[in-house]
Amino acid sequence: MIRPGRKRIAVLISGRGSNLGALLAHELAGDVVVVGSNRADAGGLERARSAGIPTFVLSHRDHPTREAFDYALVDRLNACAPDLVVLAGFMRILTPVFTDAFAGRLINVHPSLLPAFPGLDTHARAIAEGVKLHGCTVHYVTSELDRGPIIAQAAVQVEDDDTAETLAARVLVQEHSVLPWAVRLHCEGRLAVEGLRVRVLPPPT
Ligand code: GAR
Repeated sequence: MIRPGRKRIAVLISGRGSNLGALLAHELAGDVVVVGSNRADAGGLERARSAGIPTFVLSHRDHPTREAFDYALVDRLNACAPDLVVLAGFMRILTPVFTDAFAGRLINVHPSLLPAFPGLDTHARAIAEGVKLHGCTVHYVTSELDRGPIIAQAAVQVEDDDTAETLAARVLVQEHSVLPWAVRLHCEGRLAVEGLRVRVLPPPT
């Protein structure tokens, strides 16, 4: 249900959409008004449909360049007038066409403790580097890949017998709590960005 006066949230996914599920299960001080994907077979689309949320698919394969895809995605999202766009497992490198269009209202969840391990295969790389702590980051998106003001992080211990799969599963549990928390604070207007730092403001009294 979309309620007047509440923030309008668009969510982009490329896969199973477990983070989307976490968003839908939490009070966000806003409503997910649309879920988009670059892949028609993204499992999360079904999750959205069964929650009664409109979905769309925009395939990057139908666009000749990254910029052309990003322009089309910006248009498609703007038609839904989002206050916030959440990248919840959206596996595309975005150009400034997209990141500038939603600057300050674009949030991503990434499966590492940034700035460590930007990019792909974060869990396997964390194990290979022998780090003892790994985790996830929710951050505002800028034109730099996996960079931008950090809103929240959660860490897990790396165990001696961890595989990329077991570690990913424990990190994902953390993603499912920090992402909704960060989205709610954004929707409540309680995040103050100063350079790369994000301060959480107290709730209004
Ligand atoms: C999540 O682990 C998310 O952090 C990651 O994709 C997974 C999506 O899972 N995102 C990235 O790697 C983006 N660089 P989900 O579809 O079950 O939410």
